[in-house]
Amino acid sequence: MLAGNHFFKRKHLFGGFLKKPPRGSVSLSDLFGENIMERIIIFDTTLRDGEQSPGASMNVEEKLRIALALEKMGVDVIEAGFPIASPGDFEAVKLIAERIKESQITGLARATHGDIDRAWEAIKGGSDPRIHTFLATSAIHMEHKLRKTPDEVLAQAVDAVKHAAKYTSNIEFSAEDAVRSDLDFLCKVVEAVIDAGATTVNIPDTVGYAIPSQFGEMVGQLIGRVPNIDKAVVSVHCHNDLGLAVANSLAAVQAGARQVECTVNGIGERAGNTSMEEVVMGFKVRPDLLDYETNIVAEHIYNTSRLVSQVTGLAVQANKAIVGANAFAHESGIHQDGILKEKTTYEIMTPESVGVPTNELVLGKHSGRHAFTERVKELGYALDKKQTETAFSAFKKLADKKKVIYDEDIEALIAEHVMRIPDRYRLVYLNVTAGTVTVPTATVQMEIDGIVQQEAAFGDGPVDATFSVIKKLIGRSPNLEKFSMSAITGGTDAQAEVSVRIEDGGLRANGQAADTDIIVASAKAFVRAFNKLEHRGKKVFTPSV
Ligand code: KIV
Ligand code: ZN
Repeated sequence: MLAGNHFFKRKHLFGGFLKKPPRGSVSLSDLFGENIMERIIIFDTTLRDGEQSPGASMNVEEKLRIALALEKMGVDVIEAGFPIASPGDFEAVKLIAERIKESQITGLARATHGDIDRAWEAIKGGSDPRIHTFLATSAIHMEHKLRKTPDEVLAQAVDAVKHAAKYTSNIEFSAEDAVRSDLDFLCKVVEAVIDAGATTVNIPDTVGYAIPSQFGEMVGQLIGRVPNIDKAVVSVHCHNDLGLAVANSLAAVQAGARQVECTVNGIGERAGNTSMEEVVMGFKVRPDLLDYETNIVAEHIYNTSRLVSQVTGLAVQANKAIVGANAFAHESGIHQDGILKEKTTYEIMTPESVGVPTNELVLGKHSGRHAFTERVKELGYALDKKQTETAFSAFKKLADKKKVIYDEDIEALIAEHVMRIPDRYRLVYLNVTAGTVTVPTATVQMEIDGIVQQEAAFGDGPVDATFSVIKKLIGRSPNLEKFSMSAITGGTDAQAEVSVRIEDGGLRANGQAADTDIIVASAKAFVRAFNKLEHRGKKVFTPSV
């Protein structure tokens, strides 16, 4: 009985995957007499906080694809959504909990019985599922948003955790806006929720206000002052409003936090969240100062980043650390010379270490199925037979239009033809006339709810004409807030990647697509944004966290 209890407690206390307890309690050498790197739990919230990026909503199948990629990459805890937010969120969390076996699945819940019951309903099919409940503890939030006294907030937090404890002992409590909370009160809440059964206590910088030295100090103080802190894992969740989310998370780890909440590409509410790839590579590149390890297989970082970008329609900025197009590009002659002589002169990590393809010429028109399938595997995809067929036939079509096919082309076609799920609107046919003496005209055929329809329109240019027809066919006229285009590879036959953001009635959606024809890429991206807008419209409410 005792042994069983110990196992149970340990499994949940350290999430079932930690070799050692959080700092501030018993050390690993106390337990095992060894000195090994400390393990940091990676909690990924791409599917929840990441989905709160303007325009980034995803459908159920897209979320599952990302969850599978996160599991493969070695993420410890996947926050799959906010089950009470909409039936779509609930379904996505439920499906992910049922399908993912290697990562814990959690669903977010406000500190109310209704939210917690709904979250549990969604995650209960998962392996060691976690309930994540939150309540604000800062004076600003308590007074203006919650309109509750500190005592009422304390009581509600304890009640929520006790309610969650009826379902599981794997409970995370987040003190929303912790950074702007009074430290004495925060310590009181943290102690009380741990007593009530929370096994992870999360200290969010909800508004991205913290400075690394201050945040590290705060987390250290909290660990030193909360008497029962050894019964929980201390976690941090930082937003990037001052561009300091990663720095703050690392400072917190140095002060004793043992879980980092983050997202792929750093996407998230407003300026985003802590970027997972930056934290993970920080540990890998600087073990001299950051002697911590994670379960993340870094070689999967690049593919997962591309998948998230393609699915959410949120392009990764070229100069983004680790996964940006320029992250390993050496432009100046002096740097190029140095790199050729000795890579470490200007490279602190290799592109291969994060799975960035070497960009060698890989395939062409005459390449066969075997060579294609092998390359797809090397790029880290595990496609089934049907998906391989679909991808191969798309590859053949592309090879007819484009002499050389690069790794990036293969990724784009897999994203386009395999990863994307048919939605309400589909582009069937597009014919455009444009030139110096013609009025740009577009004729478009689209399948809408399974019925093919056709229209034509004029415009200021070929893209404008195409978008006008699509709007006519769909019967909605959203504002085009963003339109950007870039070449995926070099050469005039390169595929263009187009990103658009549209807004209609306060709802926003992004769309991204690639094609060798820039008008086709634009049309597909536009249609994709409409599909996402449709999905976004089904949300019952958009959470404010
Ligand atoms: O930013 C925040 O405070 C959150 C919590 C729900 C963890 O997202
Ligand atoms: Zn957040």
